Amino acid sequence: MRKKIVAGNWKMNLSKSEALALYQSVDAQNPANEVELIVFPSAIYLDSLKKLDGKLKIGVQNFHPAESGAFTGENSITQIKDLGAEYVLIGHSERRMYFNEDGAFLKEKVDAALQHDVKIIFCCGEPLSIREMNAQDYFVEQQLIESLFHLSNYAMERIIIAYEPIWAIGTGKTASSDQAEAMHAAIRGFIEKQYGKNTAEKISILYGGSCNASNASELFACENVDGGLIGGAALKANDFLQIAKSF
Ligand code: PGA
Repeated sequence: MRKKIVAGNWKMNLSKSEALALYQSVDAQNPANEVELIVFPSAIYLDSLKKLDGKLKIGVQNFHPAESGAFTGENSITQIKDLGAEYVLIGHSERRMYFNEDGAFLKEKVDAALQHDVKIIFCCGEPLSIREMNAQDYFVEQQLIESLFHLSNYAMERIIIAYEPIWAIGTGKTASSDQAEAMHAAIRGFIEKQYGKNTAEKISILYGGSCNASNASELFACENVDGGLIGGAALKANDFLQIAKSF
């Protein structure tokens, strides 16, 4: 059975005390079910959150693939691992769009994280213009080819994928469960074509984009949807926990 995962991307939100309070509140009510819960706070809070010693897993939203060097303002994978990050987000559309992270750069990040044994949630997803041309499958497959399909089967099986249609992120416009399932099944098909059925069946594929406490059950009921990557709704403990109980 594939791992069920609900991850909260806190983006550039919350003061330190708010981040600590949110972490503690979610951790205290963490439903002891089989769902893996992860939060992605601002990297500057990592150390303080880790010291709370909770069960809720912690990751970072960004890092630089170089081991060290003159990259002003950046943190290396070794540094964030040192502070206790177990997961990283790679390929989020906001990083692709606002920070010009392209497929080749994301591939370097994938390799760096794997090399240091940090787990990856790799985000993919099409903008509205591509969806309007009905070219989303081709677009997403290219994103996977560019940054992931150089990996061995063994490495690929350690990747978690998040499908996040850009037109649904932060817009309140969710993909319908049919649209989500169609793309998740297509993604699993691309992986199967490259790596075989056995590997494809092991990989968790999360949905992201205006997923909330009201629509999570319908999305998570889809055969190929193994959880969610949650933005706005992850900033409220009760909403996030409600989503985690939506399987
Ligand atoms: P959203 O963000 O849930 O606020 O749409 C999702 C994401 O960007 O990961």
